[in-house]
Amino acid sequence: MKIISPKRLILCIVFLMTCFAFAQNKSERDLILIDKDWRFSFGHLYDTEKDYGHATGYFSYLTKTGFGDGPAAKDFDDRAWRKLDLPHDWAVEQPFSEKASYSHGFKMAGKNYPEKSIGWYRKKITIPESDNGRIISIKFDGIFRNSKVFFNGYFLGTEESGYNGFEYDVTAYVNYGGENTLVVRADASMEEGWFYEGAGIYRHVYLQKTNPIHVISNGTYVTSEIKNTTAAITAEVNIENKGNYKGSIEIVQTVFDSSGKSVAAVSENVVVPDFYKIANYISKLTVNNALLWDIESPILYRLSTQIKQNGKIVDSYETPFGIRAIRFDAEKGFFLNGKPLKLKGTNNHQDHAGIGTALPDELQYFRIKKLKEMGSNAYRCSHHPPTPELLKACDELGMLVIDETRLMGINDYHLNDLKRMIERDRNHPSVFCWSVGNEEWNIEGNIVGVHITEVMQGFTKGIDSTRPVTVGISSGFKSGISSVVEIMGYNYLGNGDIDAHRNQFKNQPGMGTEEGSTFATRGVYFTDDAKHYQSAYDKKPRPTFYSIEEGWKFYAERPYLAGVFFWTGFDYRGEPTPYGWPSVTSYFGMMDVCGFPKDNVFYLKSWWGNSPVVHVMPHWNWSGMEGKEIDVWVHSNCDEVELFLNKKSCGKKKMEQNGHLEWKVKYAPGTLEAIGYKNGKKILSDIQKTTGNAENLKLTLDKENVPNSKVMVVTVEVTDKKGLHVPTSNNEINFSIEGGKILGVGNGDPTSLEKDQFIDELLLVPITNLEEQKLASADLPQQLPSYSENEWKIAFKDRDYKNQAPAYVYLGEFDLKNNAATNVVSFFYKKIGVNATVFVNGKKVEPSAEDSQKYMLNSNVLKEGKNSIYIAATPLQKIKDWDVMNTDPGIIQIITPAELWKRKLFNGYAQIIIQKDETANEAVLSATAKGLRSASLRN
Ligand code: GAL
Repeated sequence: MKIISPKRLILCIVFLMTCFAFAQNKSERDLILIDKDWRFSFGHLYDTEKDYGHATGYFSYLTKTGFGDGPAAKDFDDRAWRKLDLPHDWAVEQPFSEKASYSHGFKMAGKNYPEKSIGWYRKKITIPESDNGRIISIKFDGIFRNSKVFFNGYFLGTEESGYNGFEYDVTAYVNYGGENTLVVRADASMEEGWFYEGAGIYRHVYLQKTNPIHVISNGTYVTSEIKNTTAAITAEVNIENKGNYKGSIEIVQTVFDSSGKSVAAVSENVVVPDFYKIANYISKLTVNNALLWDIESPILYRLSTQIKQNGKIVDSYETPFGIRAIRFDAEKGFFLNGKPLKLKGTNNHQDHAGIGTALPDELQYFRIKKLKEMGSNAYRCSHHPPTPELLKACDELGMLVIDETRLMGINDYHLNDLKRMIERDRNHPSVFCWSVGNEEWNIEGNIVGVHITEVMQGFTKGIDSTRPVTVGISSGFKSGISSVVEIMGYNYLGNGDIDAHRNQFKNQPGMGTEEGSTFATRGVYFTDDAKHYQSAYDKKPRPTFYSIEEGWKFYAERPYLAGVFFWTGFDYRGEPTPYGWPSVTSYFGMMDVCGFPKDNVFYLKSWWGNSPVVHVMPHWNWSGMEGKEIDVWVHSNCDEVELFLNKKSCGKKKMEQNGHLEWKVKYAPGTLEAIGYKNGKKILSDIQKTTGNAENLKLTLDKENVPNSKVMVVTVEVTDKKGLHVPTSNNEINFSIEGGKILGVGNGDPTSLEKDQFIDELLLVPITNLEEQKLASADLPQQLPSYSENEWKIAFKDRDYKNQAPAYVYLGEFDLKNNAATNVVSFFYKKIGVNATVFVNGKKVEPSAEDSQKYMLNSNVLKEGKNSIYIAATPLQKIKDWDVMNTDPGIIQIITPAELWKRKLFNGYAQIIIQKDETANEAVLSATAKGLRSASLRN
């Protein structure tokens, strides 16, 4: 017997353990985020040549499988395309134009811009040989919109909606042990909403690998019933078998609490589903001393579902969930965990300043925290399913959600969208209500609306019976949809008699799905239509609309109404009512597009929040208005407030419940102070001080940032020499960063047409008029000889591949708009010969070290206008008659570096969103401005 030395034994054990770990890993699930390192280029809506000839092949992707053509082809050369990481919104990168879409915030993208309405994305993915045997799929959280996806040239499918998550199985097409190509063509020419929607792959993409026997995506459904302190959990799981195994599997369901401790477990042996079949299995578990999910303490549990085959784990699937009870009562409103809870909500779209719809996950947390800070406890996803990260943030931070589908209808387009939304989102404790529509004016008040609502409502219940269904209704209360919908969603007091509706439908609970739609510009206190300024004092915006205060009082006074959702929490791009161009964002928000509060935030905080509030408005920098009367308002939840100007009392006033206080004050510079009293005792005060001139720049990390995260939201402001914030400053600020990058800039000014992003311009210029001459020898010229002018003929025309010359010289041209030394110009050569020498404007150019088919062309070789390019090459040989020979010599790429990042302050503030590099210890953001002391921020 051979004796193994201890050292060898250890090595053997390590080796075996590695093999085992590898085998285990191979059989379990991997979900890999593939947001990084994509290539992007614009295509064209109808000019197929500019769309890289896509869908023009004799055989294209619908004729025969695997015939994706143009960029959809596996080997398409995308070296000259722009490199980027997801999430990406190409609309936000574009300038503004009056001719562009009002709904989409006048960004020059979409249907009126055919050259900016198609986006191509390509990504290389390596999949190891060891994955052979697993199910490989690509998961998209959402693409705006009408996407077509290809994998190694194979067409996978089309997803029309810009708001659905979807998944494609690519197992059959994978090149195991090598490179694979994933291609997406997004077509944003059509709008789905009447608000800004972005363009492109603006949500995450994942590569998923599972065992053939696996839990399908969104394949679990966890519900709970609470009795005293015990929760009876029902855990449903949908398992699919894409393999040939027949026999039994074991399903192990384990509930973990938030500390990671297992609190309940059950296992069961079942028969595996047949080949390509999905089966549903239900387990019951009991969680004792269940901790409930609540808006104050959003406690989460996790269900771990494991599938075992012959005792070995083949799949693990995690489902975060919460234990909580919800109930609507037609008399008393909404109840969370048995306690009444008035819904204090806002409606919101999904875009943010500077970054459009391409929100890093951190921004979801940032925005939900801002809303919570205002005292809000509920969020309506108007008017489409949100990104999964928004719901994750709501689950973790404690924010109730109305989840809404995009379009009402009863066919596959509508019901399948609804189904996917519910199946994706039904484990989120934050989601308390499904909305199946909003203001469908054609059907709201009629029998078509009744029929559609009845179908959608019943259909919804079949997928999730634990949540009620609502529709936001703006006309025809008492008829049509409103007569059959489970929870009446009132859109605006001015649209009908809410009490009358309620008296007729006594058993139907209701809530205000929209209210407000007031106009306000942050930091503006006088309406000036010429400047498109709306004063920030809360007022009735239009004859049939009401102020925030009027709206809240109405809902607060009626216990039968579960609550209200103001239009909106944040301003958004598009819908710049009451104005149009050059206003590009809405005026409705309680906060601006950056999340800087308008004064109404403090009204809501007073009556929605739990802490004492005193907020005095306006600011006190009114030079030139000395002696003139100014409206001073105080938002507060104190019993009384006394106002002082320069220490002199302007009077003490009693605060009415859900009200605000007003004074008229003759302006004199100095200090305006409001002191709040509760039970006769001074408890807090707020001060507006006249400031000196702007002197210093100040950068602050917003407190709503996610701690220690790579993405950071920074507030930019200026202060006077005493350090006081200057509320009227509008200076232009320049930014630079080390150890990171800037994602976007904004300032909340609805009329700002400044750039949101400063990114290098990338232009692809084709080589045109390609001609050729035969060369007598295969020795390629090292210096450009003068070729006879009348020998040139169209390149490759009637080429006799059986009788080719020893070599050819090709002559083409390309145009340069300018020849700035700062441009980076490269020629990406595509092989039209075996060996080649290249001359630009007569000078020989050399291939670059990194890529032998890339030539860097510097400005002393180039000139403005027409440039000539000669390529001398020995010919490629056609092997088979049907071989398609490349005749495209390549493309010229011109990169014009972006100008430095900058943004003007708007009424004292701007916002900059930055991202620290993966490997950097710190990012250093610097801000400079003419006449101001610079600032920098390290983090
Ligand atoms: C509502 C609509 C919202 C928004 C709002 C503006 O009618 O549902 O999406 O357009 O008006 O006031």
